[in-house]
Amino acid sequence: MYRTHNCGELRTTHIGQEVLLSGWMNKNRDFGGMTFIDLRDRYGITQLVFNMDDDADLCGSARKLGREFVIQIKGTVRERSNKNPNMPTGDIEIEVSELNILNASKTPPFTIEDDTDGGDDLRMTYRYLDLRRKPVQNNIIFRSKLAIETRTYLAGQDFVEVETPVLIKSTPEGARDFVVPSRMNKGLFYALPQSPQTFKQILMVAGFDKYFQIVKCFRDEDLRADRQPEFTQIDCEMSFVTQEDILNTFEGLTKNLFKSMLNLDLPDFPRMTYDEAMERYGSDKPDTRFGMEFVELNEVAKGKDFVVFDSAELVVGINAEGAATYTRKQLDALTNFVKRPQIGAKGLIYVRRNEDGSYKSSVDKFFNQDDLAAWGEKMNAKPGDLLLVMAGETEKVRKQLNELRLHVGDELGLRDRTQFNPLWVVDFPLLEWDEESERFHAMHHPFTSPKKKDMERMMNGDHETMKSLRADAYDLVINGVEIGGGSIRIHDRDLQSRNFDLLGFTKEEAEAQFGFLLGAFEYGAPPHGGIAFGFDRLCSVMNGVDTIRDFIAFPKNNQGRDMMIDAPSPVHQEQLDELGLDLVE
Ligand code: AMO
Repeated sequence: MYRTHNCGELRTTHIGQEVLLSGWMNKNRDFGGMTFIDLRDRYGITQLVFNMDDDADLCGSARKLGREFVIQIKGTVRERSNKNPNMPTGDIEIEVSELNILNASKTPPFTIEDDTDGGDDLRMTYRYLDLRRKPVQNNIIFRSKLAIETRTYLAGQDFVEVETPVLIKSTPEGARDFVVPSRMNKGLFYALPQSPQTFKQILMVAGFDKYFQIVKCFRDEDLRADRQPEFTQIDCEMSFVTQEDILNTFEGLTKNLFKSMLNLDLPDFPRMTYDEAMERYGSDKPDTRFGMEFVELNEVAKGKDFVVFDSAELVVGINAEGAATYTRKQLDALTNFVKRPQIGAKGLIYVRRNEDGSYKSSVDKFFNQDDLAAWGEKMNAKPGDLLLVMAGETEKVRKQLNELRLHVGDELGLRDRTQFNPLWVVDFPLLEWDEESERFHAMHHPFTSPKKKDMERMMNGDHETMKSLRADAYDLVINGVEIGGGSIRIHDRDLQSRNFDLLGFTKEEAEAQFGFLLGAFEYGAPPHGGIAFGFDRLCSVMNGVDTIRDFIAFPKNNQGRDMMIDAPSPVHQEQLDELGLDLVE
């Protein structure tokens, strides 16, 4: 027997009991006559005491224990004279009578503490040591509970969990595929699923009615804090449903998860159309925890011989309330922020509203007090406020001002990590025109249905009309993060063919890529739709953390590498030969 209790459960009620504990040597404090050891396991830390006067040999052995040694002890629970109210076990300690070293440990390359001294790469290389740290372990345990709650909720709603294959053919989510060569079919490749999209639609044709899966997806795309090459979705599909049914079901799931995990009651989720989100926030995933909404200024800002504004499609600003105290240096920093190549703006115009109600701007040469007062009125500027204005081509300038809004929101402390603002963004455009390739792309994916009212226009309209089509497609956004997205699907063969035409697929290409699905659609496909949540993102947002890596047990770094197992790595020539692949040096 290794233990009678774990390291997190002993309390004053156990005083006098003889116990066995096992765990890792977290900390060793030697006070000459006494040695204290913090013994750690998943459940907590318990203090062990060794007394020189009672047993010099035992105390000597305890002193020699190194960090992360795995030990077992026998001892008696006693009340601490020096209690630690910050520890659940802080009222007691164990007077040790026997010590057994179960395994020695090399000195770890970084401290196994809540705040460690290890850099990212080192911690990733020794991920098993990093995972011993409480905050990291808590994240992984949170994830486990969230998955269990999700399963319980969806099972309670009659969803069936079905596993779909991992070795498949390309899926149309718009990123690059990871491909896997086939030994038995030389020269041919599987693709790893970017999502189970086509399979879940086929499951609807097969009559499963409500499907879900907590499933790994793979996308070969550039990595960011909220993107991993392999990530997990809560993936769902439902038959005989409208958009309303899907939003209600997944709003229910989200509320349930916040309640069960964080004991928070979320109010009903507001909805906003894509167009409105772009106008008010310049983003299809607005952070609605704070205001600072866009105010369009064309009417009052143009026609005053300021060529930057006069030549712009859109002049638009935000009011950073109370930020008139920003110094010249801070304003220069904001200008430099928007001029960075990642944002690419030409410049930034500011207007301070002084305490006496007058205005001071960076464009006083072109605009007098009356002009600026007209902006101030539109932007509801009060004394002490700072107006930040940008101009340019509508789509670009909105994107740029969105970045600035989030940045200033951060600087002013308006993005409270303990506050949660969910939002449904609905009525996405069906198609997106790409100037470079001169092609339409599906804004969500090629199986997304246009709105009923737009079907006729989609079948018969001209090129310009296609840009205005709206889809039954929706995203769930929480605190500016896209948590999930989905759509009602096309289940009509003609409409699907038209969509493929518009996306530039020839009949043969569509048939080669999606023939199996189109074929299935000819055997009585029910109306259906679905959604997928990014599970890793949900974990991180619920914990107010920006990076999803913290919630993945074995994540990849920003170069897509697993530092611990050292992947990707070369393979032997024989493996390549078997696969019929030539190694390109
Ligand atoms: P979509 O492509 O919008 O939809 O993906 C759904 C959600 O998955 C998360 N996500 C990611 N999370 C981490 N790393 C990534 N690389 C990554 N890519 C996406 C996001 C996103 O909202 N099949 C459709 C769903 C449907 O139509 O039902 C799909 O995959 O949170």
